[in-house]
Amino acid sequence: MINALPEKGVPGEQILAELRELRGGDLPTHGGRLFAYVYDPALDGLDDLARAAHATSAHVNGLDPTAFPSLLAMENALVAAAATVLHGGPATVGSVTSGGTESLILAVKAARDAHPEIAAPRLVVPATAHAAFAKAAHYLRVELDTVPVKDLRADPVAMAAAITPETVLVAASAPSYAHGVVDPIPELAAIAAERGVRFHVDACFGGWILPYLRRLGADLPDFDLSVPGVTSISVDLHKYAYAPKGVSILLHRDEALRRPQYFAYADWPGYTMINPVISSTRSGGPVAAAFATLRSIGDTGYLELASRTREAVAMLAAAVEATDGVRLYAPPETSVVCLAADGVDLFVLADELAARGWHTQPQMAYADLPPTIHLTVTAAVRATAADFAPDLTAAVEAARARGPIELPELPPLTPEMITPELIASLAEGLGLAGGDFTQMAPVNAILNAAPPAIREALLTGFLSMLQRP
Ligand SMILES: Cc1ncc(COP(=O)(O)O)c(C=O)c1O
Repeated sequence: MINALPEKGVPGEQILAELRELRGGDLPTHGGRLFAYVYDPALDGLDDLARAAHATSAHVNGLDPTAFPSLLAMENALVAAAATVLHGGPATVGSVTSGGTESLILAVKAARDAHPEIAAPRLVVPATAHAAFAKAAHYLRVELDTVPVKDLRADPVAMAAAITPETVLVAASAPSYAHGVVDPIPELAAIAAERGVRFHVDACFGGWILPYLRRLGADLPDFDLSVPGVTSISVDLHKYAYAPKGVSILLHRDEALRRPQYFAYADWPGYTMINPVISSTRSGGPVAAAFATLRSIGDTGYLELASRTREAVAMLAAAVEATDGVRLYAPPETSVVCLAADGVDLFVLADELAARGWHTQPQMAYADLPPTIHLTVTAAVRATAADFAPDLTAAVEAARARGPIELPELPPLTPEMITPELIASLAEGLGLAGGDFTQMAPVNAILNAAPPAIREALLTGFLSMLQRP
């Protein structure tokens, strides 16, 4: 392990060399072959610009916008841009947060705190809603009502039936992360409005590409603030706006809806703390980098990037359709290609794709949904997409030849049985102890067979094992 606190400081060149070496072990963030975690527009010079912009404001503190009006100006500009893209009106306001999860937590907090008279507030979401809603509900002690979906989309009738007098927020996705399909936002928003409940659109993933896909002719429903009844919407700039990590926008239809999002505290001897978001001290770096990214790409630039993404999605989807042994699991209507396997082990297939340089995201079985492979497609993939079909064919053939993973005999587990010792011995047995994560099929097969509570306990234990100095 590198010593982060050497007795005597180390020269900068050496430190940068060490960092480059460390980064060498990561998945490739650029190059159009990693289908999760990263969003790559493949635009020359953009990284350098964002880096330089980040450096101008890395030490600026968002705690007090009167001390650092530069940050206030940039944040207001980003909120205004998001309001334009998502058809806000003159009353639309918003906040810059650190990411999608924070935006969703704050949407839930605002809805909860708008109703202090409701002792046991509830949140209604479709089963395909992002896990960050469960986290928000957990952190904020709001009860989560998860409603089964119909053909992978929120079912308005079932969602309406789940609303109770304690419901403070209804939410849905545009699109869902797992499958990339858009929920019927106008119908859901109308139901929520009729019941007098706030309605949040989680457009964290797709909010910056759907408007451009629609301009390119994609047949997608209205999903933004143009829809009556939508009270808030979130969009992550670190996804399809291609900004470096750490920036999302939460928009509210008007200021009154945003007010309960704020936290204010003057009852202590220090400065009065007024926080619109979860962090108090926060760096201006990501905000400046996002500001530079948006201004550099511009509206026509985003349209062109969406066009490339759309072409890449069509190419990957065609490759899946043409390959015996895999099939499209969801309609590729936005920027996700989601595939299922027929007659080959999906997790072995994911490893075989990784061995050919395609890093995908396996998704476990859930309720009556089978395991699938998720591909988040970004503009960079347009340049590599043509190489996918032959590698997919070869990977399917190799997976078929290897056959399915034989699950080891494991006793029935309860979360309490999952101790650090059990995790350590499982990791050893599965070859993970040395930090080699290239053969994940046996691990994924075990996780896939486990119920969610066991999956959570196993992975929490594993992460905790990794996160030790
Ligand atoms: C639809 C959706 N909502 C929320 C999130 C959470 O975003 P973050 O990882 O930035 O917290 C994601 C992340 O992929 C997402 O796809």
